[in-house]
Parts: sequence; structure tokens; C-alpha cells
Amino acid sequence: MTAQQETVRDVATDVPAPRAAASDAVAALREHVTGDLLDIVVDLAAGEGCRIHDLRDGAEYLDMTMFFSSAPLGHGHPGLRTPDFEAALVRAGRIKPSNPDFATVEQARFAETFRRVVGVPELPLLFFIDGGTLAVENALKVAFDWKTKINARAGIAARGSRVLHLERAFHGRSGYTLSLTNTDPAKIRDYPMFDWPRIPSPAIEPGERWDAVELLPEEAVALDAARAALRRYGREIACFVYEPIQGEGGDRHLRPRFLRAVQELCREHDVLTVADEVQTGALTGQAWAHRALGLEPDLVAFGKRLQVCGVMGGRRVLEVADNAFREASRISSTWGGSLVDMVRATRILEVVEREDLFEHSRLMGELLLGELRDLAVEFPSVIRDPRGRGLMCAITFRDPARRDRAIAIARETYRTLFLPSGPDSLRCRPPLSVRPEEIVEAVTALRKTLADLA
Ligand SMILES: Cc1ncc(COP(=O)(O)O)c(C=O)c1O
Repeated sequence: MTAQQETVRDVATDVPAPRAAASDAVAALREHVTGDLLDIVVDLAAGEGCRIHDLRDGAEYLDMTMFFSSAPLGHGHPGLRTPDFEAALVRAGRIKPSNPDFATVEQARFAETFRRVVGVPELPLLFFIDGGTLAVENALKVAFDWKTKINARAGIAARGSRVLHLERAFHGRSGYTLSLTNTDPAKIRDYPMFDWPRIPSPAIEPGERWDAVELLPEEAVALDAARAALRRYGREIACFVYEPIQGEGGDRHLRPRFLRAVQELCREHDVLTVADEVQTGALTGQAWAHRALGLEPDLVAFGKRLQVCGVMGGRRVLEVADNAFREASRISSTWGGSLVDMVRATRILEVVEREDLFEHSRLMGELLLGELRDLAVEFPSVIRDPRGRGLMCAITFRDPARRDRAIAIARETYRTLFLPSGPDSLRCRPPLSVRPEEIVEAVTALRKTLADLA
């Protein structure tokens, strides 16, 4: 046995220390752990802005994906490298408290900072949990509970047990959300699901029709479908859930005029509205896309860029005093989110506030969209529909196979990482702190990629 092969023993615990090395981390994970791993081993100590480094050979990539849009300050932000912050992380990391039942100053500071920086006054109730899917599912539970109580008040025995939702929606892939998600069939095939009412989602491409005052014909069709569902199941439909901009479905933009019409209809039928902002939160040039679109949801599910997932509730939820946020044991989990995430999220929100990063990201989004529009003019036979709100920007490929090829070429040849979106689109998800030169560099890589393809 060589010295290297000898079992290393951890001094503190006297058990074998893990021996995974950078060189075989990808292979070792692929062998036993479910995932879709890129051939990169992330160097957590390096990285700067949009640059991510491969620990194996130091290879550098320009990252427009940000861990599926969940790293709002990019890699190695100096605000997350201060001694006081690192000490706070270590303190919160030694044990994982059950936040719903045991108060800590760290959780209280997080809640206070969250409300100050991204809070919505009309949505004062907060619930935290791990994972965007569970955030959405708990918003649904609040709605089911609410609707059943509203029905009972009116002497109606029906339970709130159905969810009105959109075609091409993605809300997660477990439990209730599986019945709502309808993007890639592989994600839902053969699993048991509820038969909940689904209506068309009339995404509108940028252009003249966007500002039409009246409902467009396809929007009227979708609204009629919502009316029909409400006529049939009105007493059972607890809520309408929507992504303000459909992300996984392909960066599909719905007009506020349409979403407001559905919202109005829901109010008439005692149906709550739930904005799923798991993807759009802290991405569209301000904290919440629903605000930018002039919508007034009763519940907002969040996650990803906020680090801690959860639900904000208010408006009509407050009409029921013992709503599920308030009545004991209606919604909860052991950990209620991770305290380490809360410490990190608190610091991130402080940096966002101090550096006015929502406004910065709005400006950077304009730059990115302008660059993508130029690309669409240069390569009209390859791409179309450059679109975006804030940093949530995308283009569509005329040939879906070319989209996949483009992402591979950009990664392998130009060391730039992009994400697919829906069946035929490519999405950019840079951090709020992205610099103009990083955007220009990413678009240059995309331009070269498209030239190679063309
Ligand atoms: C709109 C939306 N809702 C819910 C989810 C599920 O979040 P998670 O993967 O954290 O469970 C996602 C994930 O991409 C999402 O985009």
C-alpha cells in the first residue's frame, strides 16, 4: 500500500475522511448520485463575477447560468468574503436548528431584512421552507385551506381541492406540483396526478401586439376556458397559479392585460391567485415580476435567487383570521429552511440594497436584450424573438436541434455557459451584479457560436 492509498483518518472524529479528489469527482458522482452533471468540478475558492473555474485544471468559463439562476451575486463576490460574514456562517453551520419552533437572532434578522429589501406591504405573512417546489405546494395548501373555510362560511360543504393553471407551466415535480407542471413530458410521464383544470397560456412575442388595449383573440380563448372551468368547478377551485413569465416552458411572456383579466375573474369566484416567482424573483430588474406587471396576487412563492424558499401571503388570505399561516400545524416542516441559507441570504440582500443591484440589473438587462436583438438581426435564419425583462433574457432557435448544438459549442469552444429554455430557446441568467463587459463577452461568444452554426 502506498502512502497515498492509506486510509486517511480525520483527527477530530477518528473515522476515515472522505477521499474524493477533484480528478474523479465527476465520475464518482455519476456512478451513484442522480444528476445531470456537466464535466466541470466547481472550484468554490476561486471564481469571480461571472467566471467559474474548474478545480481540476483551472479552466475558466463565463457563466450565464448561475446554478440555474440561483446565485444572485455570481461567484466570489467580495461582500460574501468578509470575516464577520464568514464567522456568522460558521456559527449558523455548526447545527441546523428547526426554525419554525426555535427562534434565533439569525432567523429574525433574515425575516427583517427580507421584508425591508424585497417585502411587499400587502403580503405581510411569511413562511419559509427548503425548495421552490415545496414553496409552491405550501402556497397551494394555504389556498385549499382558505377556500374550504370560505365555503363553510357560506354554508357550502365543498372543499377547495382544485388548482386552475396554465399550459406550458412549470411549478416543480413532486406531489401537487406534478399535476401542474406540463413542459417536458419526461418530467411527469406515468406518475399519478390530479386532473386539475388547465387553460391555454397565450404567450405573446415582443412587438406591436404587446401593447394592445383589448384582449387578443388567443387571450380571449384562454379566458373563456378559465370561465368554463370556474362554471364547472367554481366551489372547488382554490386558486389560480401562474408564473408571471413562464421560465422552463421557454421564457414565455404573458401580457399583464391577460393575467389581470384572469385575476379579476378569480376575485369574482372566491379563488385566490398565486404568483410562482421561484424563477422570476430577483431576476426581472426588480424584486418581483408581478409588481412590474401590475398584478396583485394573494400568495407569492419564491426560492432560487432568494436562497431561502417560501411563501408570502396577504390580501384576501387575511379575510380568514385562522388562515393556514396562522392556525397551528397547517403548514410546517422540521427545518423551515436552512439557517445557513438565511445568513447568506441576509448578506446578499444587504449587498443588493447597498449597491442598488435591482436598478443595476435592470440596466444590464437592457444592454443584454439590445445585444440579443442585434444578434437576431445578424442571424435571422438561425434565431428569432429576442425577448426579456430585466436579466431574464432569451432567444429562440428556428431549429431546436441547433439550440442544443449551440449550447454545446459555446461551452466546448468558447467556454461560455448558457441554459436551454423550453424546447427551442436559449436563456441567459446572469447575476444581479453582472458587469457590462461580461455581457458583451458572453454575447460575443454566442455570436461566434451562431457563425459556426450558420
Ligand atoms: C417557476 C418555478 N417554480 C418552481 C420551481 C421548482 O423549484 P425547485 O427546483 O427549487 O424545487 C422552479 C424551478 O426551476 C421554477 O422555475
